[in-house]
Amino acid sequence: MAHYLITGAAGFIGARTSQTLIEQGHTVVGIDNVNDAYDPRMKEYRLKKLTALPGFKFHRRDISEKPCIELFKDENFDAVIHLAARAGVRYSVENPWSFLESNVIGTLNMLEVCRQYGCKKFVMASTSSIYGENPPYPTPESASSSEPMQPYAASKKGAEALVHSYHHLYGIDATVVRYFTVYGPAGRPDLAMFRFVQWIIEGQPVRVNGDGNQSRGFTYIDDIVRGTILATKPLGYEIVNLGGHEVISINDLVKLTEELTGLKANVQYGPPNLADMLTNQADVSKAMELLGWEPQVNLRMGLKNLIDWYLQEREWAKDVLTP
Ligand SMILES: NC(=O)c1ccc[n+]([C@@H]2O[C@H](COP(=O)([O-])OP(=O)(O)OC[C@H]3O[C@@H](n4cnc5c(N)ncnc54)[C@H](O)[C@@H]3O)[C@@H](O)[C@H]2O)c1
Repeated sequence: MAHYLITGAAGFIGARTSQTLIEQGHTVVGIDNVNDAYDPRMKEYRLKKLTALPGFKFHRRDISEKPCIELFKDENFDAVIHLAARAGVRYSVENPWSFLESNVIGTLNMLEVCRQYGCKKFVMASTSSIYGENPPYPTPESASSSEPMQPYAASKKGAEALVHSYHHLYGIDATVVRYFTVYGPAGRPDLAMFRFVQWIIEGQPVRVNGDGNQSRGFTYIDDIVRGTILATKPLGYEIVNLGGHEVISINDLVKLTEELTGLKANVQYGPPNLADMLTNQADVSKAMELLGWEPQVNLRMGLKNLIDWYLQEREWAKDVLTP
């Protein structure tokens, strides 16, 4: 049995990672400020399920505030899994300060938890957005990450660099996992997958940025959680892509959602968003080599799980804000 700190525990990936570790017999301390980056009802829903589990302890605190480091002085964590972040490319253009505070200062504080209290393993979530506008496809970890397209990617680049410096200075074993567009039940309502499911089922217009030919390598939540937990093994310092093996255009995603719900979408095309990448596609050979990981859940099955979850939770999920 191991003892973990999960930052961003009320978030999409943090909640599922916490739940999985507890189901595996481990104990988890979660921290999250439950901010309103998207409708906080999603976070409260996830938290309610988590706090009902034995072996889960929670702090509603902001990781960018230095005093929160001390919360953990007697915990003796085996690993810190650092998932808390302001996420999402578009809002980072409007409010870059909040991204720098949470993603850079917050990461520094969580690295300090490791340094000050002797935790030997740090796993941090980074993003495919770090590869900028024109990477090779599929994109390997060795592709340039020096031309971020928005403050979100820039803040993750800064966080990755800090993680490396703490590995170098203090010997903290650190793995950066770069996720590629994650989806699944109780997923983020600010991302396309949740929005399309809600809009199609509720008969609302389906708003698409640009012509819908942009594409994504979507990755199912349970695959991401499995890869993240595998990344807690000792590796030195490594950066590892965790991404889906299927790439789908936004137009085809709408069609697949129509097919699986049996409903017709009323698609409305708007201007493209300059902060968005045209596509992303992971080269996951390093994840296979180092972690024995590859994605297992295909898009059709994963999307069906999300639709089933939505229908089950529809009474409140229909009101979750998707502005
Ligand atoms: N979901 C994706 O497609 C995706 C893709 C690439 C990378 N990521 C990264 O994975 C991680 C988890 O993403 P997610 O999709 O679960 O996002 P999420 O927004 O659902 O979860 C992040 C959680 O962190 C919390 N948080 C943010 N700033 C905080 C702060 N200063 N103090 C305490 N808590 C704070 C938020 O309240 C939220 O609950 C993030 O680091 C994100 O950048 C996600």
